[in-house]
Amino acid sequence: VGDDLIERLGQLTASVAAAHSFAIVTDSNVGPLYGERVLSSFADRRVRLFTIPAGEANKSVATWTELTDSILAAGFGRDSVIVALGGGIVGDVAGFAAATFMRGIPYVQVPTTLMAMVDSSIGGKTGVNAPAGKNLIGAFHQPAAVFTDPRFLGTLPDRELRAGLAEVIKHGAIADAGYFSAVRNNLPELIASRGAAPMMREVIARSIEIKANVVARDERETGLRKILNFGHTIGHAIEALVNYELLHGEAISIGMCAEARIAERAGIAAPGTADAVRDALTLAGLPTELPRFSGPDILNAAASQKKSWVG
Ligand SMILES: NC(=O)c1ccc[n+]([C@@H]2O[C@H](COP(=O)([O-])OP(=O)(O)OC[C@H]3O[C@@H](n4cnc5c(N)ncnc54)[C@H](O)[C@@H]3O)[C@@H](O)[C@H]2O)c1
Ligand SMILES: [Zn+2]
Repeated sequence: VGDDLIERLGQLTASVAAAHSFAIVTDSNVGPLYGERVLSSFADRRVRLFTIPAGEANKSVATWTELTDSILAAGFGRDSVIVALGGGIVGDVAGFAAATFMRGIPYVQVPTTLMAMVDSSIGGKTGVNAPAGKNLIGAFHQPAAVFTDPRFLGTLPDRELRAGLAEVIKHGAIADAGYFSAVRNNLPELIASRGAAPMMREVIARSIEIKANVVARDERETGLRKILNFGHTIGHAIEALVNYELLHGEAISIGMCAEARIAERAGIAAPGTADAVRDALTLAGLPTELPRFSGPDILNAAASQKKSWVG
């Protein structure tokens, strides 16, 4: 994590993953903003920019196929490295392309959303959505490195920044009560200052630490890693129900509220947990309920999801 990484990405990438060619994968929003700067950081190395259409609807098998075909058509071979420059969608799709391109080539993550910085760039889960549900096709493939420059947050829309805070609040809730309160008490400053506040760098670093620590102990999610799915069983069901009209962070915000209430009722979370979680999410400007759908609607949608307790 550093404030001066954008201009050094070429050299940093080559230092962790030496290669003949570098494929920078980005999306249609991030490319116009940062593509040129990142390309020029590669100086005279063989490098090319590949752009996928932005949006969750494009985190698909079709996008993965088209991306792979264009990288092949551009003459890239096994001696290539992929650079995922963008949010969680670019990271998941480009990471999956790297996992499968000629049976696997290295990649680095350059997250540009808060969601990607604190969560999706860490842990090596890559993949795309299937019509039947989120992330149903994918691979574990660890990046050679993750380079996070908080300055990217300067252009991130407000709603996207808030969605990223949902995962930050999740990290506090599952792992560190002190972190949870510190984040809760500084939400207005975190939102107003974008990447510029020193506090934002600390938040990014602490969230990375929490997630990396869990993943290091249970990479393949046989036990402990499931803790990172707090809010996601219901959250993923909601994303599918509303046809991805809600952002991932917004859906898991609603999911965390519901799951915390269930946990409290089942006697496995301390009384007051659900209220504390909802209070922090409300302060972050995130939705905490989904009045349009009934419990059974959500349960049915959850049954067809991977992170499911009924399916
Ligand atoms: N692999 C994992 O472990 C993991 C973890 C959490 C979430 N995810 C996945 O991540 C995805 C969500 O990621 P996301 O929230 O980053 O969404 P995203 O990738 O769609 O990015 C959000 C929006 O912001 C734009 N954008 C990105 N960076 C920008 C910048 N710096 N300035 C201006 N605009 C910018 C993007 O083009 C997009 O429109 C979901 O598909 C979710 O399932 C994966
Ligand atoms: Zn998530």
